[in-house]
Amino acid sequence: MTDHKGCVLWFTGLSGSGKSTLSRMLEGELRKRGCKVEVLDGDEVRENLSKGLGFSKEDRDTNIRRIGYVAKLLSRNGVIAITAAISPYAEVRNQVRAMCRDFVEIYAECSIEELTRRDVKGLYEKALAGEIKNFTGISDPYEAPENPEIKVNSETQDPEESLNVILSWLEEKGYIPVEAPAAS
Ligand code: ADX
Repeated sequence: MTDHKGCVLWFTGLSGSGKSTLSRMLEGELRKRGCKVEVLDGDEVRENLSKGLGFSKEDRDTNIRRIGYVAKLLSRNGVIAITAAISPYAEVRNQVRAMCRDFVEIYAECSIEELTRRDVKGLYEKALAGEIKNFTGISDPYEAPENPEIKVNSETQDPEESLNVILSWLEEKGYIPVEAPAAS
């Protein structure tokens, strides 16, 4: 089945805001619907494509441009490219948007208070103690998108709800097929 368009689904949000979780859920659901899909996850990209890059503004921008470039190549070949990096700077996100024909920005929102409370990777505690410098949201900027196509919030929604918000938007805009009804 190929009744879907290539596009870039660009998650942005603080560490721990749910980008990776939602990406993987979305990937599974889109595959079930017969879509071609790839996930470019922040942590994985930093192990491969961006190995050696740090967290200065320059290095982050380089990381985002690389992810954007690969996402563009994939999406123009009919793949739904899902990206999940913090991508804290609006300017470079908008540069990538301008490069891609169908760019869908998904803001994974969550307050610093809640992220610090959850602290799944234990990084917020370290950042607050000054053990990690330039940590996004604590000692480094995060520029929230002003007009994201889609907004989800892991404080007020459970992951299934957020997934449905995204799927409904994509269905409505004709990017993906509406789930095929179960055979009777
Ligand atoms: S981005 O800014 O270049 O988009 P990316 O998503 O690749 O960031 O990497 C973020 C991940 O790196 C975080 O989820 C966290 O696990 C880890 N990390 C390590 N140091 C930092 C830091 N200083 N700021 C933010 N995240 C960091």
